[in-house]
Amino acid sequence: MSTSNNSTNSAWGGRFSEATDAFVQRFTASVQFDQRMYAQDIQGSIAHATMLAKVGVLTEAERDAIIQGLGEIKADIEAGKFEWSVALEDVHMNIESVLTQKIGITGKKLHTGRSRNDQVATDIRLYLRDEIDAISAELTRLQQGLTELAEREADTIMPGFTHLQTAQPVTFGHHLLAWNEMLERDYARLQDCRKRVNIMPLGAAALAGTTYPIDRAYTAQLLGFDAPTENSLDSVSDRDFAIEFASAGSLIMMHLSRFSEELVLWTSSQFNFINLPDRFCTGSSIMPQKKNPDVPELVRGKSGRVFGHLMSLLTLMKGQPLAYNKDNQEDKEPIFDVVDTLRGSLRAFADMVPAITPKKDIMREAAIRGFSTATDLADYLVRKGVPFRDSHEIVGKSVAYGVKTGKDLGQMSLEELRQFSDVINDDVFKVLTLEGSVAARNHLGGTAPAQVRAAAQRAKAKLAQR
Ligand code: ARG
Repeated sequence: MSTSNNSTNSAWGGRFSEATDAFVQRFTASVQFDQRMYAQDIQGSIAHATMLAKVGVLTEAERDAIIQGLGEIKADIEAGKFEWSVALEDVHMNIESVLTQKIGITGKKLHTGRSRNDQVATDIRLYLRDEIDAISAELTRLQQGLTELAEREADTIMPGFTHLQTAQPVTFGHHLLAWNEMLERDYARLQDCRKRVNIMPLGAAALAGTTYPIDRAYTAQLLGFDAPTENSLDSVSDRDFAIEFASAGSLIMMHLSRFSEELVLWTSSQFNFINLPDRFCTGSSIMPQKKNPDVPELVRGKSGRVFGHLMSLLTLMKGQPLAYNKDNQEDKEPIFDVVDTLRGSLRAFADMVPAITPKKDIMREAAIRGFSTATDLADYLVRKGVPFRDSHEIVGKSVAYGVKTGKDLGQMSLEELRQFSDVINDDVFKVLTLEGSVAARNHLGGTAPAQVRAAAQRAKAKLAQR
């Protein structure tokens, strides 16, 4: 990147009597990172020039020269042939300056009726809209894999936990669909955020609007925005849409981080519930036996940077008076990193989740070991007329006996069970099995395999409609 700076800046040099300090120039520049929005900047400029020609501010020939020049610049950037200059501060002035080199003074007319303030606000919104769509597509792919796996594992039994202690048996499919519900809300939040992102600030110019007879509705339509913004001061200054995006992104990362935590636990030799294929894991350079669940660990770790960016953006805005302030330039790096982190994490999860294989015998064994059908025994006693509080007490004593003798409830003889209550009969063994326990929770939202299959079907149908 070139940093030459021999004279005053050509974009505002008129008012200045000395060149910007070399360090200040680098310090205040954003081209190092905002060049990432080159495609949106060019897209916005083409629409702006098209609108200016429609209202008679540019001639058709001028418009065509601008569009042609911008097209060449885009190709040059993509071919790595564009020379970015720190002296030209940002993506907007770099592109405009090269446009003028290419097409002469017509290039200098592009900025008529706009400012970098509304230009940058427009670029970020175009950029975020594209990224929200890409992130939503990865999220959908993850949910597709998750719901497929859930359907396949509708009958697989595992312990369900509260306090990370074995609570009641659940089906693995049911557990996976819990994750899908979280991601479903995450998707809805992204779509909701997109509605407020997809409003066009262009036309606000520096802050007050412009004296040219611009047609904002037309520009908005050209750029696929739902509408132009209503107030020029608000248009160039607020970044609440970016905060919303970081907030929706934080919730996604929070969910992926919780999911990661479970995958890390489940792949440990202590739980040993699932296998993750080697391609999602790495080894240790010193301990030959190790297979580490790096992908979930890293995703869990990366949640922190997204939460941090949400805080940065909130703090960036909190003290700003209307309208545009240079502070706003600091919105880009957090936004970009939220985008990269979400895209990377979702992609890794979407690739990995379909490859999860449960170790069914071990899950089942763990469910048995934890007295997970104790509530079923209590419910059984209630059905025989014992008040729930008394049945809770009876089952508590049975579990204590089981702990002492090393037997699960289902492994005790009828005689052993009847020590605690004489209403217990032969039919008790049906409810003490894991299958009986899960099948009995047969209502909307319950863990019964039939319910899980139906829920997976509904979830897949919803995904197919996106
Ligand atoms: N690079 C600036 C930003 O990212 C563009 C807008 C600059 N406007 C200005 N008046 N200095 O916000």
